[in-house]
Formats: sequence, structure tokens, C-alpha cells
Amino acid sequence: MKGIILAGGAGSRLYPLTRIVCKQLLPVYDKPMICYPLSILMLGGIRQICIVSTPRDLTLFQAFLGTGEELGLEFSYVVQEKAEGIAQAFLLTEHFIGDDASTLILGDNVFYGDYFYNEDGFARTVREFGEGGLIFGYYVSNPQDFGVLEFDQDSRVISIEEKPKAPKSNYAVPGLYVYDQQVIGICKSLKPSARGEYEITDVNRTYLEWQQLKVQRLGRGIAWLDTGTPSSLQEANAFIEAVERRQGLKIACLEEIAYRQGFIAQAGFQALIAKLPKCDYRQYLERALSQGG
Ligand code: DAU
Repeated sequence: MKGIILAGGAGSRLYPLTRIVCKQLLPVYDKPMICYPLSILMLGGIRQICIVSTPRDLTLFQAFLGTGEELGLEFSYVVQEKAEGIAQAFLLTEHFIGDDASTLILGDNVFYGDYFYNEDGFARTVREFGEGGLIFGYYVSNPQDFGVLEFDQDSRVISIEEKPKAPKSNYAVPGLYVYDQQVIGICKSLKPSARGEYEITDVNRTYLEWQQLKVQRLGRGIAWLDTGTPSSLQEANAFIEAVERRQGLKIACLEEIAYRQGFIAQAGFQALIAKLPKCDYRQYLERALSQGG
């Protein structure tokens, strides 16, 4: 399974925060936003990850994340010249995907919950993924802002609409998608939508028409947070702060996850910690080291 993080776009709703730094590198409480989607891929056991971003921002991601080797990961970087749609990510990463399945996560989507930290949750879903497409459904109060699912009486998905004026349910499709190799062919056949983008919802519709789309509902114990506007970013900050301070455990702490997932051995973890400045983050990792993997 390959992983892709789409981290481009203009971040215009966050201007002037995004005038110099792209949205996905802005802080969400104590770490840059990209750590959150990246951690989800890592928790899914995915180690080959391609970051797609703008010509302006890609070098910043490279500076922040490097090759991935220290985390036991392998990062690739690909430029998206223009924000022409989420589905374009698969065309830009065709060589990276090769014959594999792939998981795409949007660089501004923050997920949290036991499902992601539990071996029997997302990791198992990824491990046991077979063919077709897999998307998620999450109950929200503002479905009109997202891709929206429609269900029949047997709770089967019968349609998906992108930002409908009259949503057919409260179930939004979060920015986390798992597809088999067919996704590349599907994306090649897409036509731009009325807003001029290659829509991920059209990819999902194709799998649905082929009866190859699985939809898994994420329950109430899971948080899926927006970060696209100043107030939703603020809410995400407050949420992460509240949970981290209450538990004394960090969310999306990449070094800790790499160690606990067995991507790096104790010596590698120790070496990573030794490079850090003296700070709370380092103390936290030292505690994790003393507790063992
Ligand atoms: O967040 C989930 C939603 O994401 C889904 O429910 C929708 O079906 C899906 O279309 C998408 O809706 P958004 O309106 O949130 O998409 P947005 O254009 O804001 O793009 C999401 C992220 O992907 C954002 O951080 C920018 C990045 N992006 C987007 C496009 C279109 C790129 O890097 N390149 C692109 O071409």
C-alpha cells in the first residue's frame, strides 16, 4: 500500500496566514498540520509516502520531513503546478503508485480516535484491503460543505454528491480514500467538473457504479476536524490541546509512532531524540523511550 498526502491549494480562506506559509504547515496546537494526516498513514502501517504540493511549498515540506529515513519511512515529493482537483493527485503519482493500491489523505484533514490508534482498526482495514475503493462516512452538522452520501433503506450507499445544496443525508465523506490500481485509469477518464476540477467524488461515483465501493462509517468516538478557516483551525487547536493535556499523550507525534510501530529500533529512536533541542517535546519522547516500544 502506498500513501499520498495532498498538501497543495491556495489556502485562500486562511489568508493572510497562508501568505508565506502554506496551510498544511501552519500549527495545529504543538505541531505542523501535516503531522496529523501523516500520522494516520503511519498508523495504517504505510511507509512509502508521496507528498504532493505546490511549486512554492514543496521545498518547505522537503525541509521539514526530509527523506523519511530517520522515521523508517520513504518520502517522495511531487509538484502539482495548479490546483486542478483532488483526483489529479493520482495522475501525478502514477509512477510512485506502480501496481499497488494507494491511500490518499488530504493534508488539512485531522482525524483522532481509537480506531486509528488500534491495531484492529484502521491498520487492519489497510492490511486487509482487497480490491475496489474504500471511503468513509462521518456524521456532520454541515454536510452541504462536503461530498455527501445517500443511503437506501438497507443502509447501502446509492449516491454521492459533491457539496449539494440539499444534502440527502448528514454523512460527509472525509478526505481519506483507499483505492486499488484501477484508480489511475478512472482518473485518466475524468472530465473537469463545472468548477474546473478533477473531482474525487467522480472517482467514488465510478467505483459505486461498478459496485466496487465500500463505505465504512466512522462512529461518534472519532473526531474528524476541519482546518480550512480561522475559526475551524482554532477549534482544531483547542481540541488537540484539550486531549493532549488531559491524557499527557501526544497526538500525531511522528517519532513516537515510528518507534511504537516498529519502523525504527530503539537505537534509531534514541538518535532521533538526541538531535532535538531541550524542550517539552523532547522530554515527552524521552518518556516514551523509557517506557519501551
Ligand atoms: O475534506 C473532505 C472534503 O474534501 C470532501 O468531503 C469533498 O468531497 C472533497 O471535494 C474535498 O472538499 P474541499 O472543498 O474541502 O476540498 P478543497 O478544495 O478545500 O481541497 C482539500 C485539500 O486538498 C486542501 O487542503 C487543498 C488540497 N488541494 C485541493 C485541490 C482541489 C490540493 O492540494 N490540490 C488541489 O487541486
